[in-house]
Amino acid sequence: MTTYRETYDRWQADPEGFWMQAAEAIDWERAPEVGLTVNDDGVHEWFADAQVNTCWNAVDRHVAAGHGDRLAIIHDSPVTDSVTRITYGELQDRVARLAGVLTAQGVGMGDRVILYMPMIPEALCAMLACTRIGAIHSVVFGGFAAHELATRIDDVQPKAILAASCGIEPGRIVHYKPLLDSAIEQASHKPGVCLIFQRPQEVANLIDGRDQDWSEAVAAAEPVGCVPVPGNHPAYILHTSGTTGNPKGVVRPTAGQLVALHWSMRNIYDVMPGDVFWAASDVGWVVGHSYICYGPLINGSTTILFEGKPVGTPDAGTFWRVISEHKVKSFFTAPTAFRAVKREDPQGEFLKDYDLSALKYVFLAGERADPDTVHWAEEKIGKPVIDHWWQTETSWSIAANPAGIELLPVKAGSPSVPMPGYDVQVLDEAGHPVPPGTLGAIAIKLPLPPSCFATVWNAHERFENSYMAHFPGYYETGDAGMIDADGYIYVMARTDDVINVAGHRLSTGAIEEVIAAHPDVGECAVVGAADSLKGQLPLAFICLNARVTRPHDEVLAECVKRVRDEIGPVAAFRHGVVVDRLPKTRSGKILRATMAKLADGEAFRMPATIDDPTILDELTQALQSIGYANTGEIA
Ligand code: COA
Ligand code: AMP
Repeated sequence: MTTYRETYDRWQADPEGFWMQAAEAIDWERAPEVGLTVNDDGVHEWFADAQVNTCWNAVDRHVAAGHGDRLAIIHDSPVTDSVTRITYGELQDRVARLAGVLTAQGVGMGDRVILYMPMIPEALCAMLACTRIGAIHSVVFGGFAAHELATRIDDVQPKAILAASCGIEPGRIVHYKPLLDSAIEQASHKPGVCLIFQRPQEVANLIDGRDQDWSEAVAAAEPVGCVPVPGNHPAYILHTSGTTGNPKGVVRPTAGQLVALHWSMRNIYDVMPGDVFWAASDVGWVVGHSYICYGPLINGSTTILFEGKPVGTPDAGTFWRVISEHKVKSFFTAPTAFRAVKREDPQGEFLKDYDLSALKYVFLAGERADPDTVHWAEEKIGKPVIDHWWQTETSWSIAANPAGIELLPVKAGSPSVPMPGYDVQVLDEAGHPVPPGTLGAIAIKLPLPPSCFATVWNAHERFENSYMAHFPGYYETGDAGMIDADGYIYVMARTDDVINVAGHRLSTGAIEEVIAAHPDVGECAVVGAADSLKGQLPLAFICLNARVTRPHDEVLAECVKRVRDEIGPVAAFRHGVVVDRLPKTRSGKILRATMAKLADGEAFRMPATIDDPTILDELTQALQSIGYANTGEIA
């Protein structure tokens, strides 16, 4: 049996040979002759000389191989009290027809298509229909408001938008269609057509000449086949938060994604064709792209599409119910989801009602897996609980415990070891590797492995400046941490102003922009304050204009509403405090890290460059008045 060490060494000895061998698992229209090339921008690309189609590999090839009756998707939707099963054969028909609708609308190779969809099978069909014809999809998470959708419409300039009439959150309907209409009104770019999937829970008004009924269009459409695309053709664009309010459109290369995701399904998740895999995330995030849609389907496995929450739909036993009912072998969720379950059912009483014998592993990602949560899950579920670390930019694990190769000893607090393809190093400020056990910036020596992004949509200079410039020859992950003497990686914090709220990556800069636009606000700073459920929550320090005499609570409430209306409920912004001034360095830089430590009641070193240290006492008092700065937990 091969070990992790042998596998990693094999990759290090011959990186191109390693991935060329992995590429044999993919059905190529024209197989790659070269693994790695350098493109016109000087960036590394994988399998650029190949011709291939994503949808063929995710759907059609399984049908062609005689597995048309195998389940491709199980849509388990406690919010609509339904379970729908879709075979590979049925999926092929649905996707080919939807691709036919797009083709009839003039959408073709390289055209962008925005998807604004809840967790329903049509969301996966839409992604696959785009890749079937070489169109580039850009999914916008349903928890984002109209303004965020408008920003993405203007960035990718879609020919078509595919949306559902509504989403369903516990206790409320999310009115997608009015949000979509408002976004299109706000955006400078206008799509040619909007295809609207009418859900029975809310039937939307269609705009004549622009909107079409999804089901009617699909019923009338001619199915179309798969169009081969070059290996470096973008499969999709997915926006993610950075330091500024402007999200970055991560571009996913087609061939690299096929090869790396297939490799990861077998070697990291230990999932084979026909096995049931469940990533409890959302199609709006990279986890949804890689491990609800593409990874399991490319691998010929069955994917679970779960439209519900870990708690409240209807109770904290939902995860166990889904795992037992559908015989899930590998389950992937975020630590915050387990914290939610643990809060409601600390003793794991619900587990007693379900048979989890099919389950082999639980995987965690999206945020740091705190050892308490990992130990609770291990003890209650009685299966290995494996932390793994990755990013929208990479689309698959940088570090993991490769269960499909060999389950290494788990060290709580560490996502384990680097995966083949990633030469992970911890660097000091000057870019020199630091000794084991020393904290620093985590960077990956170039080239990045297959499936990692090679550019930012419409902004290649942002790719260079944000990721490649700081440490020449390395990709800067934006995470800080260390590597121990056994080679285990520890990811501790971000080095930028990105915060992680319930496993969702948010930009404090984006929230600050919205608050600062309030007419009564002079300036503000947003930091991530520790939260025992969501990991972090945004907390705003707001300085009002001198002439403002209104009650502060009124202004704060308006700021909260603005953030919800402009960024969306997913920002979970509820807490702010009015202060006279913000702590800054003598050169005017706001000391956000110090403010976050103050909010958490954590010890900190007085920044040497602080302009006026007395301000920190003022901030502490203000924070205490709203229940922060005592225990590190929100009161
Ligand atoms: N469409 C519309 N609104 C959405 C949404 C969606 N797809 N997803 C979340 N929201 C809304 C929620 O309804 C909530 O609104 P509210 O303020 O009116 O209550 C708000 O956005 C915040 O959502 P969330 O942060 O998800 O909090 P929650 O209280 O609804 O649930 C958890 C808390 C921990 C149960 C939930 O965050 C969770 O399951 N997290 C796991 C995250 C995950 O899997 N991340 C993927 C990374 S691997
Ligand atoms: P996203 O691009 O939304 O997937 O967010 C990626 C970021 O989430 C990473 O850069 C980390 O900051 C954080 N993250 C994801 N997984 C982990 C993990 N296992 N441990 C620590 N942080 C993580």
